[in-house]
Amino acid sequence: MGKKKAKLGFGVIGCGRIAPKHTESIMAIPEAELIAVCDLVPEKAEDFAHRYKAEAYLDYQELLKREDIDIVTIATPSGNHAELGIAAAQAGKHVMVEKPMAMTLNEADLLIKTCKECGVKLGVIHQNRFNKSIKVLRAALEAGRFGKLTHGQATVRWNRNQEYYAQAPWRGTKLQDGGVLMNQSIHNIDLLQWMLGPVDSVYGYTATALRKIEMEDVAGAVIRFKNGAIGLIEAAATIYPKNIEETLNIFGETGSVIIGGIAVNRVEVWEFPDSEAEKGQIFASQESDPPTIYGFGHREIIEDMIKAVKTDGTPAVSGEEGRKALEIILAIYKCQETGLPVKFPLNENF
Ligand SMILES: NC(=O)c1ccc[n+]([C@@H]2O[C@H](COP(=O)([O-])OP(=O)(O)OC[C@H]3O[C@@H](n4cnc5c(N)ncnc54)[C@H](O)[C@@H]3O)[C@@H](O)[C@H]2O)c1
Repeated sequence: MGKKKAKLGFGVIGCGRIAPKHTESIMAIPEAELIAVCDLVPEKAEDFAHRYKAEAYLDYQELLKREDIDIVTIATPSGNHAELGIAAAQAGKHVMVEKPMAMTLNEADLLIKTCKECGVKLGVIHQNRFNKSIKVLRAALEAGRFGKLTHGQATVRWNRNQEYYAQAPWRGTKLQDGGVLMNQSIHNIDLLQWMLGPVDSVYGYTATALRKIEMEDVAGAVIRFKNGAIGLIEAAATIYPKNIEETLNIFGETGSVIIGGIAVNRVEVWEFPDSEAEKGQIFASQESDPPTIYGFGHREIIEDMIKAVKTDGTPAVSGEEGRKALEIILAIYKCQETGLPVKFPLNENF
């Protein structure tokens, strides 16, 4: 499927806030071609089709019939990611799904299973894994430079005001979005678990402190990882008066790294026994704050998917990888309901 084509055809479903990151990245990649876009709202579909020289669809099932589309990007509200992803896989399309890949583990597992059965690739959009800062951190971790890992923290201190939630009825709802953990903090939780995981157990609290929404606007959680390291999560959409930071801290016996900026884009602390000589270069090569918290990673994660399709490889953030942060967040939601810590894996109907 598409393996011998020079350019892979893309269809993007959902023409909302995040969609331009996809359409513009696809258009900038020589091996990709944007074929079609789809939105339930005709003006949105037509506007995107016009801006990005693609064909407009109002019904995603019609878009899926096109033989020239190899990869389908799903950028609709989170509550229908699994349904659309499954339909795309059954139509023989590779699937790139925005985060969260699904709202429940059952849905995520069904999406993963369907993609396997249909012989298509599944990639989940956690684009921050491709930030320069995160790539150097990951390389240091893989090289064992931290020694024994002790702890880490994922901090999201952002502001989402009531007008943000009023933009669309799905925002902040249990079935379609989740709260600050599931929507805004999932990227940083993914990074924390990528560095320190796998998870042994989780405990956390959530609250709806300031916004009039169904789910949480602030949360705190503790993770015990299987390697003994402790992880802390601070997630807030309530920060006055605007976004301050998305920061990832990783600490070990012989290493301390803090990656801050508005969206984990800048190395702020880089300490290893032999790090003096490289520090200047590490600090100098960092990305400045991106214009939006979406960051710069969409192009690279799409290129990674194209490579996986062309070489029959596995996308860097596969379905199994994307599921990990989802499991942590659902475990925190369970803690909030029961008041009890959650031992992994979450094997009930979640
Ligand atoms: N990776 C990131 O950094 C990032 C950033 C923002 C949003 N997201 C994710 O992207 C998704 C979309 O978020 P958004 O902010 O762009 O939302 P949005 O509400 O701005 O856009 C969603 C669009 O999908 C359309 N839509 C809904 N159901 C559809 C269907 N069945 N068929 C076709 N179109 C349909 C809506 O009409 C709307 O235009 C969410 O899952 C969100 O979590 C990811």
